[in-house]
Amino acid sequence: MSHTPSDILDQIAAARVAFDKNEAGSREALIDHSRALIASLEIPSEFPAQTAIVRMAVDVQLFQRLQEAGSEGLSPSILSEKTGIDVTLVQRLTRHLVAMNLVVFNDGVFLATKLSNNLAAKNYQHSISFCYDVSRPSFNGFPEHFKKNGYKPPTLSGTDGPFQSAHKTDLPFFDWLVATPPHLEQFSSFMASYRNGKPDWFDFYPVQERMVEGFDSSSNDALLVDVGGGKGHDVATFVARYKSHPGKVVLQDREPVIATVDVGATGQFFEAHAHDFFTPQPIKGARAYSLHSILHDWGDEESIKIIENLVGALKRGYSRVLFNEIVVNEQNPTLAATNMDMMMLAHLNVRERTEGEWRSLLAKGGLKVIKIHNYPGVAESVIEAELA
Ligand SMILES: C[S@@+](CC[C@H](N)C(=O)[O-])C[C@H]1O[C@@H](n2cnc3c(N)ncnc32)[C@H](O)[C@@H]1O
Repeated sequence: MSHTPSDILDQIAAARVAFDKNEAGSREALIDHSRALIASLEIPSEFPAQTAIVRMAVDVQLFQRLQEAGSEGLSPSILSEKTGIDVTLVQRLTRHLVAMNLVVFNDGVFLATKLSNNLAAKNYQHSISFCYDVSRPSFNGFPEHFKKNGYKPPTLSGTDGPFQSAHKTDLPFFDWLVATPPHLEQFSSFMASYRNGKPDWFDFYPVQERMVEGFDSSSNDALLVDVGGGKGHDVATFVARYKSHPGKVVLQDREPVIATVDVGATGQFFEAHAHDFFTPQPIKGARAYSLHSILHDWGDEESIKIIENLVGALKRGYSRVLFNEIVVNEQNPTLAATNMDMMMLAHLNVRERTEGEWRSLLAKGGLKVIKIHNYPGVAESVIEAELA
């Protein structure tokens, strides 16, 4: 069976005829074709990675073994030898991956797919471990946690939510990541890969017009400061895209994260500085400050503190703040938005915000929204703001 989206759409059209005639098995066939259609359209960063079999595949490097085998594939007995899993068990587990459209079985051998090859990369292997080991227990604990606390949202302290119940800790999520290796590394990889294949914010934010034109190095020689930028995936892509940009590009994050950043290894030029965004922003008067998925991690009180610590560095009429965030549409919420909202509830006791909530929050911090930039199919918007 072919796996291109157009072929599958033809199969769906044919199955529809049987469905309209109420033929036995036609409903199930439509569901199977629809799943195959999703698999053929899905990019690795959209793949739901929380299943047990996929997590086991990470431990035994199953996707890597299939990738190495290429078009020859691996028979169940060779796959058993290479993974150390009993042959009948590996056959059953991998057959499930075939049913999930993740692996193919043909002429007695299992074969990799584009998706399984992508999932073999280190960032995705870390992401799968993060989603299964850290996120999934928090979601599994929702019913018990909320029944016990009388169905109340967690308090703003960030220390009494489903995450703390599931992982039996009093630590807030970000502190726990640092205290329990290798979770910090896995989370950083998850952040680096979960938007892979999607347009970047600078694909739809007019960088040339709003940042490059009018750049004034006498204000500060920084064009862009990425506040809480993780391992630097955004800045690395930004400098690769805008090779002849004026000024410098700076990555900031917590010291343990910056310690893992090897700027040279990215082959791209940016500076990496440790900075706690609950302290005053040390780079004054930069052209733009980007905060990508930062404020959604925090309640309103902490978010206002983060904004206030930035506001002191802004130059009136010149510095722009770019909040790259989900703006929840109340009428037609997307699954990407509500999934992330549930992630926030599970780990950080906070929420994704509607447009009205964003406008009111930024105003409280002393900013005004200039424009909200959107792009079809991209979950996050760029909320462009400046000093009120
Ligand atoms: C959700 S991640 C976003 C990372 C990156 N901006 C992105 O969009 O992929 C949140 C980031 O905030 C950083 N962070 C948390 N607390 C911080 C603090 N007090 N000061 C600076 N960075 C912090 C984390 O280390 C993490 O990299």
